[in-house]
Amino acid sequence: MNAKVVVVGSLNMDLVARAPRLPRAGETLAGDSFCTVPGGKGANQAVAAARLGAGVAMVGNIGDDPYGLQLRQALEAEGVDCQGVSVCPGVSSGVALITVDAASQNCIVIVPGANGLLSPESVQRCDALLQAAEVIICQLEVPSETVAWTLARARSLGKRVILNPAPAVGPLPAHWFANIDYLTPNESEAQALTAMPVNDLDSARRAGERLLQLGAGKVIVTLGAQGALLVSREGSQHFPAPVVQPLDTTAAGDTFIGGFAAALVQGQEEGEAIAFGQRAAALSVTRAGAQPSIPYLVELAP
Ligand code: RIB
Repeated sequence: MNAKVVVVGSLNMDLVARAPRLPRAGETLAGDSFCTVPGGKGANQAVAAARLGAGVAMVGNIGDDPYGLQLRQALEAEGVDCQGVSVCPGVSSGVALITVDAASQNCIVIVPGANGLLSPESVQRCDALLQAAEVIICQLEVPSETVAWTLARARSLGKRVILNPAPAVGPLPAHWFANIDYLTPNESEAQALTAMPVNDLDSARRAGERLLQLGAGKVIVTLGAQGALLVSREGSQHFPAPVVQPLDTTAAGDTFIGGFAAALVQGQEEGEAIAFGQRAAALSVTRAGAQPSIPYLVELAP
């Protein structure tokens, strides 16, 4: 299948502990279970788009360790084109240390490893993939100069560009905004990008409007159980979230973005694509782990 969605981003092995609650600083806490599962925001979004019906290619780096091999195999098993996934000799693969509590909240520490070596030149070597794409997706788990280069190249090729600004530590460089069609922060990311409080629909709308002023094409603020808010120059539209009992919210945002992109390249209009991404994300939070939680298209049949 031709890759209409190209994801430029991270691959991590997730080391996941479940515990009754998140530990406090300096505390040692007994957990309930442990597992390793393929993750990384980029790879998760690639898997989501592939499971939800799109042809997908991944551009990223892995280390020359067993985790790297497993991460690549996990993508290949979903039919993701991995010709743009390179092995970095002598470097470890990215890992994410994740704790999930009984209320299904998580906290994550990321060690980038090979993800931190993804250069603009390595993306440039995959230009044929970018040229063939309809939608190009980036996140912020690889070097910012690489994200900047990819956004600019995607814009120059006339592609639809999605930036998932995660993890967000502060404002984005001003020159990025003109190259973004859809900016998709969650609440805390919208707050970090704008330095404005974001905790409900009104504050999300104000933050979205600020990001439009800065030059983003459209903003989709994801608000967990409160749904998603599309903010554009035509106004804002709220998409309520399906009601589910969450078990683990890891990769819910990634599932939304992969589903949204997959729906766009399958010809759905924007509002339908948002609702489709939400249905996929809602199902993912009822299951444990990053990539294992992402649903297949057949599970979302009406
Ligand atoms: O968005 C969830 C992902 O964030 C996890 O899979 C972990 O690898 C981190 O990158």
